[in-house]
Amino acid sequence: MKVCIVGASGKLGQYMVQHALDRSYEVVGVCRERSVSKLDAFKEHITIMPGATNDRAVIKQAVAGCDGVLTVLVPWGVHQYSSGTAQAVLDYANPNARLIFSCGWHITYDGQDVYPPSLKREETIARWVSRLTHIIDIDDQVEACRRIFASNTRWTIVRGSDLEEGEGQGLPVWSRHVGDPILASNITRRVDYALFMVEALKNDALIQEAPAIAGCRTPAALAHAVAN
Ligand SMILES: NC(=O)c1ccc[n+]([C@@H]2O[C@H](COP(=O)([O-])OP(=O)(O)OC[C@H]3O[C@@H](n4cnc5c(N)ncnc54)[C@H](OP(=O)(O)O)[C@@H]3O)[C@@H](O)[C@H]2O)c1
Repeated sequence: MKVCIVGASGKLGQYMVQHALDRSYEVVGVCRERSVSKLDAFKEHITIMPGATNDRAVIKQAVAGCDGVLTVLVPWGVHQYSSGTAQAVLDYANPNARLIFSCGWHITYDGQDVYPPSLKREETIARWVSRLTHIIDIDDQVEACRRIFASNTRWTIVRGSDLEEGEGQGLPVWSRHVGDPILASNITRRVDYALFMVEALKNDALIQEAPAIAGCRTPAALAHAVAN
């Protein structure tokens, strides 16, 4: 199994690199030139391709021959960073490759999600910040996901809850819809988010699904397990 990790130098990306190496996968990591040193611990074990993740030439080269592509979709900047990254992956990955993308609960696939008021408030604030500062562009992350949903590729968009650091607890639980009681605790260990992304590469049941995830040891997930 050869996998490309787009956005490998971030926190989620580094956890994905480790999970992929634990499975003896061959790993190609793409990250911004300035962030290459963040991957020093892995440099003997992976191929690093420096470059912006929305640089189509970099992505074309990085995904060549890969069975899977794990992409960290981030809403940074105002130059279609997120949609440019997603589009390059959709255009250049092998048509049979498993494509796994990360984003947050705020992305909806079928409009059936029921959001807690706190999350709606956070999104409203994020949109104002993005309009005022141009540091982030939530709408472009939404556009990136729209293009992925519309594609005929073997995609999965993994929608993360709030995240925290800490030791892994196991594969997160998931549901098609935010608002499902199993997700109510709204917290996932980042290392377990990465685990879900890497495990999704081999889970065909998740093809063309947008699972919303939460930690398997959260009170809501444990209550659901007892009830069932
Ligand atoms: N944070 C949360 O609470 C949360 C909640 C739900 C879902 N998520 C999702 O989880 C994924 C990972 O997010 P994270 O917050 O945990 O962060 P993260 O893993 O540290 O990843 C951040 C990524 O953004 C890149 N980045 C940072 N500044 C940038 C800039 N100015 N221009 C371009 N790229 C830049 C980083 O690259 P460098 O290494 O080059 O800086 C890194 O690849 C994202 O898809 C996010 O939507 C996060």
